[in-house]
Amino acid sequence: MQDFAGKTAVVTGGASGIGLGMTRALATRGMNLVVGDLDDAAMASVAEELTGQGVNIVTQKCDVSSLDAMQSLADTTVERFGGVNVVCLNAGVGIPTSARNMKLQDWKWIIDVDLWGPIYGVNVFVPLLEEQDDAHINATSSMAGLISSGMMGAYNVAKHGVVALMAALERELRAKQSSVHASVLCPGPINTNISRNSVGYRPGKAKPKADGDNQGKMAKSIQETLEQGMAPDEVGELVANAIEQDKFWILTHPWWAKGVQKQLDALKEDQSLTRA
Ligand SMILES: NC(=O)c1ccc[n+]([C@@H]2O[C@H](COP(=O)([O-])OP(=O)(O)OC[C@H]3O[C@@H](n4cnc5c(N)ncnc54)[C@H](O)[C@@H]3O)[C@@H](O)[C@H]2O)c1
Repeated sequence: MQDFAGKTAVVTGGASGIGLGMTRALATRGMNLVVGDLDDAAMASVAEELTGQGVNIVTQKCDVSSLDAMQSLADTTVERFGGVNVVCLNAGVGIPTSARNMKLQDWKWIIDVDLWGPIYGVNVFVPLLEEQDDAHINATSSMAGLISSGMMGAYNVAKHGVVALMAALERELRAKQSSVHASVLCPGPINTNISRNSVGYRPGKAKPKADGDNQGKMAKSIQETLEQGMAPDEVGELVANAIEQDKFWILTHPWWAKGVQKQLDALKEDQSLTRA
């Protein structure tokens, strides 16, 4: 997609972190913005910031794990701006979770937000994007969508699902020479508040089952790693540039892909999970 000016973008989870970076990058290119998020204060802040820069922006409280809420976000977009050209399905949550010991309630929450959110997004927005001459749909996965580390059970499952969803969609779109392109963002560590925000959104704010101490330590260590990570505005620019060039894979830390290569080598050579 080459020409953004005067067109409309929807960003879920667009009020903070990576999504805010995308919102800003797309606004800089002259787009109208619709931001769907759960965080009222963050939405008020981005609305004030961008309205002050002359950007047309609408914010709407939207839980991406609800099909009705996603449909309502799409309806608002069409009512306000007449259509949509760019969609970024970015809202997400993550907590360290043992595949063996995680509570089913946590499994359901993470899969609902991180995987059903993008599935609903594709379902609701692709038909609208297909009405345009030039359009793009992006979803945020993770390096956890390419390789599964331990203690990230449900997150790995959801993020692998997002890669599979977007890859299948892109193949189908290219097969029918659609005007819509799809892409997937697989970030490494980015300096956001995802750990703290996710703890706040966790249903019942349940204490972790088993591995309790271990999990607390892991959350702290993940937060420390993220604080050393890439700036979210830089990721927003990467995504906007990739959309301009209709790229499929968007990696913030491409050298991390060597872990994926190791797994492929093992698959080919001795069928262990990963060769040393
Ligand atoms: N930060 C990282 O290092 C990193 C790495 C890989 C992938 N990601 C992914 O990037 C995306 C953005 O995460 P972030 O790091 O910017 O975190 P963040 O917490 O800063 O931003 C996430 C946004 O999503 C919103 N949100 C959460 N649950 C929601 C729901 N059910 N419906 C609507 N909005 C909801 C939050 O309010 C927040 O504004 C997520 O999908 C995350 O999994 C982040």
